Amino acid sequence: MDGSQTATNFAATRAAAAARQPATTTDAPILSINAIDKRFTVRGREVAVLRDFSCTIARNSFVSVIGPSGCGKSTLLRLLAGLDRPTAGQILFDGAPINGPPPGMIAVFQQYAKSIFPWRSVAHNVAFGIDPASRLSRTEKSALVAEHLALVGLSDHADHWPAQISGGMQQRLAIARALIRKPEVLLMDEPFSAVDAMTRALLQDLLLHIWRSRPITIVFVTHDVDEAVLLSQRVLSLGRFGAGLREDVTIDLPQPRDQITTRADPGFIALRQRLFASIFHQEQAS
Ligand SMILES: Nc1ncnc2c1ncn2[C@@H]1O[C@H](COP(=O)(O)OP(=O)(O)OP(=O)(O)O)[C@@H](O)[C@H]1O
Ligand SMILES: [Mg+2]
Repeated sequence: MDGSQTATNFAATRAAAAARQPATTTDAPILSINAIDKRFTVRGREVAVLRDFSCTIARNSFVSVIGPSGCGKSTLLRLLAGLDRPTAGQILFDGAPINGPPPGMIAVFQQYAKSIFPWRSVAHNVAFGIDPASRLSRTEKSALVAEHLALVGLSDHADHWPAQISGGMQQRLAIARALIRKPEVLLMDEPFSAVDAMTRALLQDLLLHIWRSRPITIVFVTHDVDEAVLLSQRVLSLGRFGAGLREDVTIDLPQPRDQITTRADPGFIALRQRLFASIFHQEQAS
């Protein structure tokens, strides 16, 4: 196995997906955030992070959340993941209130390395994502692992130890393990912020490929305006200190998207400029 083989497989998978249409978006929202407040008590003082925040997220859409540091992006994602509860209001997933981590929703965070078992091979780490309650046979499990290793371009590294693969590959491993349960919703909190620029670009295109090739809703938190515009159909821009939703911007750039074509599109440049200026002015004013 060598790197060029992996790159070839990876490129071929992406090329096949590019030919497909994006996943369809139906009218029924998969997530409904209804007038939520989130307050924390810090040293006896109550701090409002989200105040009367409402929005819906369409099934199979790709939505990014951006905003200045500390505005509540990760808090919102934790609430969606059922890892924390709103102080007031309610979040519905497929019409049912979220009262804990719901099956059908998986989160991938920036510190992906923490979720990888160093004593398990790449393939065994991916297999660990399979629902223990599933009644799949050993052969079916192997096929599922092989499918997901191929999806993220790691087929040639199945038998490696995590320490033997790069940071970008470790992030792909974390993605494969999350996807092996075929979640309806994938929540991602700055998943690519720890890798170099070129690896990040490859991971972005991989994520676009995944979104196009299976029905999945992706909610993606990032600091990077360009990344949000490149990937998403919609960008939610949060304001500082509990200001909540400042802008809800539709990104109507053509699909399929990729690093070269989309970034050169005048529409891309105009949208990233507008969103960047909006956040930059907030940062300047603070
Ligand atoms: N468990 C907690 N207890 C107290 N305060 C908290 C807690 N979690 C978050 N906060 C506060 O809520 C605010 C929003 O935090 P959050 O992590 O959601 O911001 P963020 O937008 O993700 O920031 P960054 O871009 O830096 O990741 C911050 O002021 C943070 O200190
Ligand atoms: Mg955060």
